Amino acid sequence: MILVTGGAGFIGANFVLDWIATEGAPVVNLDKLTYAGNLENLASLKDDARHCFVKGDINDRTLIAQLLSTHQPRAIVHFAAESHVDRSISGPGEFVQTNVVGTFSLLEEARAYWSALAAPAKAQFRFLHVSTDEVYGSLGPDDPAFSETTPYAPNSPYAASKAASDHLVRAYHHTYGVPTITTNCSNNYGPLQFPEKLIPLMIFNALHGKPLPVYGDGLNVRDWLYVGDHCAGIRAALRRGRPGETYNIGGNSEKNNLDVVNTLCAVMDELRPDTAPHAKLIQFVTDRPGHDRRYAIDAEKIRWELGWAPAENFAAGLRKTVRWYLDHPQWTENINSGAYRAWLDLNYGSR
Ligand code: NAD
Ligand code: DAU
Repeated sequence: MILVTGGAGFIGANFVLDWIATEGAPVVNLDKLTYAGNLENLASLKDDARHCFVKGDINDRTLIAQLLSTHQPRAIVHFAAESHVDRSISGPGEFVQTNVVGTFSLLEEARAYWSALAAPAKAQFRFLHVSTDEVYGSLGPDDPAFSETTPYAPNSPYAASKAASDHLVRAYHHTYGVPTITTNCSNNYGPLQFPEKLIPLMIFNALHGKPLPVYGDGLNVRDWLYVGDHCAGIRAALRRGRPGETYNIGGNSEKNNLDVVNTLCAVMDELRPDTAPHAKLIQFVTDRPGHDRRYAIDAEKIRWELGWAPAENFAAGLRKTVRWYLDHPQWTENINSGAYRAWLDLNYGSR
């Protein structure tokens, strides 16, 4: 049994599905079901006794204590977070509440639970904190990629809240000995991603003949990782990672945003020739405030220590992703609610 937080969101849901398929072991999935949480992501587990979904907040310490004592998990895998940089710019409060205070609440309850475990279970227990490469700040064009020893320099309220949570996790290991592991991962893409993020937003807009809004000059660089590879990296860190360590996870696939959008348009042209060329929809819009220029991940540590490397290449992963969205129009339409449209108006209305 493991306890997953945020398992109805993009990466969390992919992880839960992947975990049950590969490990076959039961999962308690605690998720608040914010706008980003979607039970449809877990529909295939509806009648699977190995999946126990609990709607709740990581800030609800009574609930967490009760879940830990009832289910006695051997690990907590902590995905729950506010995850979108643009939302952190227009409303940072929730990011502090969930990412910082929520992680603190979870750590406190994990510490109490772990401290009371008998010796073998205590030695086996892990608290795996899922974090981001954004904590390291922004790179110049010729800078070396982020390694685990790169100093923290978060630039957005989102990145700052994740950095704060990483520091708390580190402190709980250093001070109390809680067996924590932190993973810092680059940009994920793949099925089930909420269409506020670059790739699914562009697919969604292209499908609806809407403008494809590229921030600034479109030359900001991200390192793209297929979500299934991230899930495999987390499983490796859980199985073989050393307590107290951090592991960078990346796709070894640096691309600028314009290249990503143009590649995506080419795939759309092939799969939806009736509305080609999709690149005609590209529009340059006002830049994101404080927009980090470049992220790149040095994932050597997890490769040599834990034997993990990404399996997917970007072209094939992107094609699979576009196909998934085209094959699941209902999933996207169900998300296209009033709340999502209100966000599009807020973020893009005056750009
Ligand atoms: P997401 O926004 O798709 O999902 C977040 C999930 O957390 C949702 O299901 C939401 O309902 C849940 N949640 C939010 N607040 C909660 C609370 N207070 N209590 C319980 N549940 C709550 O996010 P994602 O993209 O799947 O990211 C998951 C994790 O991975 C985050 O911690 C994020 O920082 C990290 N990460 C994401 C990426 C990426 O590219 N998406 C890359 C690196 C790291
Ligand atoms: O690096 C890991 C991080 O990647 C995760 O920690 C975050 O949770 C995740 O949201 C992601 O952050 P980014 O800000 O890099 O992702 P996003 O998809 O929002 O944007 C990717 C790039 O595309 C970024 O340079 C901004 C740009 N962009 C984004 C949107 C939504 C656009 O040009 N237009 C857009 O409409």
